[in-house]
Amino acid sequence: MTPIESKTKKRSYATAITLAVLVLVVLLTCVPYLVSIALAEGPAQSTTSDASPIFGVTIPPGYKQWELIAPAEEAAPLDELRAVVGNQTALDAYQAGKLPFPDGTILVKRAWKRKQSGEFASATIPGAATTVQVMVKDSKKYATTGGWGFGRFINGKPVDEAQHRTCFACHDARAKVHDYIFTRLAP
Ligand code: HEC
Repeated sequence: MTPIESKTKKRSYATAITLAVLVLVVLLTCVPYLVSIALAEGPAQSTTSDASPIFGVTIPPGYKQWELIAPAEEAAPLDELRAVVGNQTALDAYQAGKLPFPDGTILVKRAWKRKQSGEFASATIPGAATTVQVMVKDSKKYATTGGWGFGRFINGKPVDEAQHRTCFACHDARAKVHDYIFTRLAP
């Protein structure tokens, strides 16, 4: 190897090392950025698909353990059994007879098809679950709908926007004097 050849070789090694370092720096800079984009997009997408249109209301976790406010029954053609349950804020307000309901109140209406008991003919029991309906009180966020945000869900997914446009109108027309809530605490 001539001295000139070895010099050229050394130079090309140096270039390769510089390039490798550059690539590494670029990768290390980009990876956290890409990861943060992926993380930010993941939950954002799932909240949009699980939240009701217009109101952005979601099914509250743990509602199946909430206390009963009152059961209800819906005649044909729906033929449903219902149970309205509430979180602690709702329950406290009901027990104190306090209206309007405070911000943070959540009421959930569970519904099932009416089914004849297999063990006892005159007994009616819950069949398949049909809808889960939610009302959330936030007087600022939902100022134009009496302070209530609405959500109707089938199999955990919100129904379309058109159905959500009907909620407030009916609650407003029939239950305005009771802060837009039909259900009274069962005695
Ligand atoms: C045509 C009238 C009507 C419409 C439209 C309506 N509701 Fe109701 N809602 C009622 C009645 C009546 C009750 C009382 C319980 C029952 O009979 O099932 C009720 C009860 C509820 C309750 C329990 C709290 C309460 O007010 O008693 C929730 C939560 C609820 N509705 C959510 C909704 C949502 C969400 C929508 C829209 C997707 C909606 N409702 C549309 C009539 C209506």
